[in-house]
Amino acid sequence: MTDYTIMCEQLKALASDEPDFIPVLSNASALIMENLKDLNWAGFYLMNKGSLLLGPFQGKVACIRIPVGKGVCGTAVEKNMTQRIADVHAFPGHIACDSASNSEIVIPIHKNGEVIAVLDIDSPLTDRFTEKDQEGLEKFVQVLETVTDFKTY
Ligand code: SME
Repeated sequence: MTDYTIMCEQLKALASDEPDFIPVLSNASALIMENLKDLNWAGFYLMNKGSLLLGPFQGKVACIRIPVGKGVCGTAVEKNMTQRIADVHAFPGHIACDSASNSEIVIPIHKNGEVIAVLDIDSPLTDRFTEKDQEGLEKFVQVLETVTDFKTY
């Protein structure tokens, strides 16, 4: 079981050294990869000119732009709600960047009440993410929202 409290503390410590969002998101994706088992991708998509643009991540090369409402990531933005998908092949419109992915969790990130980015995590295992993982990762995102300033560009 991942200790999300420790992960949140590590994130705060890293961001206190340098709060710029590029190193913070880069290290946040590394922290997730180091602390959660059975992942093949962890990273961020950032709202840019009305769609999601690939941001810092760990894993294989991924799609660069995702329209709002498309795939698991675009659905998380449109509904402004975490998407915890046990079997991505059963999700209509899932965008398969890495054929190894079988389950996925996407959590919206907010600034001034608007969705500014998403955290996207993929696993080769079906039903990898539990309710506890969702709770822990939502707390991790809440910390991110306070320790770094997501720039729009
Ligand atoms: N599967 C995502 C696309 C991004 S990759 O997983 C990195 C989706 O359906 O939105």
